[in-house]
Amino acid sequence: MKTDKTDILALLRNSGDYVSGQQLCDRFGVTRTAVWKVINQLKEEGYEIESVSGRGYRLAEEPGDILSESEIVSRLHTKWAGRKVYYHDETGSTNNDAKRCGEEGDPHGTVVVADIQNAGKGRRGRGWQTLSGTALAFTILLRPEFAPDRASMLTLVMALSVAEAVEEVLTDAEEAVTTIKWPNDIVLNKKKICGMLTEMTMTPEMDEIQYVVVGAGVNVNNAVPEEFQEEIRKTATSLKIETGRHISRAGLLEKVLLRFEDNYAVFLETLDMSRLREAYERHLQGIGGEVRVLDPAGEYTGISHGIDDKGELIVERENGEKVLVYAGEVSVRGLYGYV
Ligand code: BTN
Repeated sequence: MKTDKTDILALLRNSGDYVSGQQLCDRFGVTRTAVWKVINQLKEEGYEIESVSGRGYRLAEEPGDILSESEIVSRLHTKWAGRKVYYHDETGSTNNDAKRCGEEGDPHGTVVVADIQNAGKGRRGRGWQTLSGTALAFTILLRPEFAPDRASMLTLVMALSVAEAVEEVLTDAEEAVTTIKWPNDIVLNKKKICGMLTEMTMTPEMDEIQYVVVGAGVNVNNAVPEEFQEEIRKTATSLKIETGRHISRAGLLEKVLLRFEDNYAVFLETLDMSRLREAYERHLQGIGGEVRVLDPAGEYTGISHGIDDKGELIVERENGEKVLVYAGEVSVRGLYGYV
């Protein structure tokens, strides 16, 4: 029944016109009653479906922000990213769920999505809370066949993909500026809208990657800054706060996965950032400006010169020395404020 619901939703969405009950029965090999039940379920979930006798059913208006397995799967036109989806109304952490998928043999490209994360994980051991109806919290499971030293770049590939997808959602009139704060925070109008957490698991022999999970939390429909945890309230924002619009999280995920699939293919050609570097640097915040590198071995300031082919940040120190900053160890801040 679940597959029928997704398929019927996809057909109604893609057709954009009336589809007769008989067409649906023939296409999916189900009875009229089964079709009628699915249509009712969809209506209960918030879809506005017109039924006109003699013409059939039409998806009248896209609902604001329904997040469900059917909504996600019925939108996807990707080749492999998200071809298997696990959706949870509530979970601990989608990264942990995706790691379990990694252990249990789920395929490359499996995506875990949740409405609420009650134990979401941020970088450096911090938490990442997601309240119902607000964030797009998802994790993609990857089974790369390349060497482990390449894996840290996946987070930059995802950062570029999210930035591009966010830009697709914004209208020109909104005049919002999307940038990447190296290595992978997405910043909208100088405030953070998305953070990422990449985790790699090696084979028991420790010589190959078993799987990598790349998780992203995008603040989409948080209505007011008070919805963020106190400590990030001044530096965080959401798409809704910046645009005034309610945005479909499933629609954003569809765009992210399409962009990720393309960018991942480009990354695989060279197994580094050389062919994505230009696009990444077009979004990179603060090239040519001063940055502070919060290296545990000692903080320093310098000028950012963008990234090298491995995705490391090139920072010119005051003595003229060029340092390559590796994403795993340090955090970089603009000299004034968050970016
Ligand atoms: C950061 O600290 O900036 C990283 C935040 C990463 C949050 C995302 S939400 C989806 C995925 N699941 C998690 O537990 N964390 C990541």
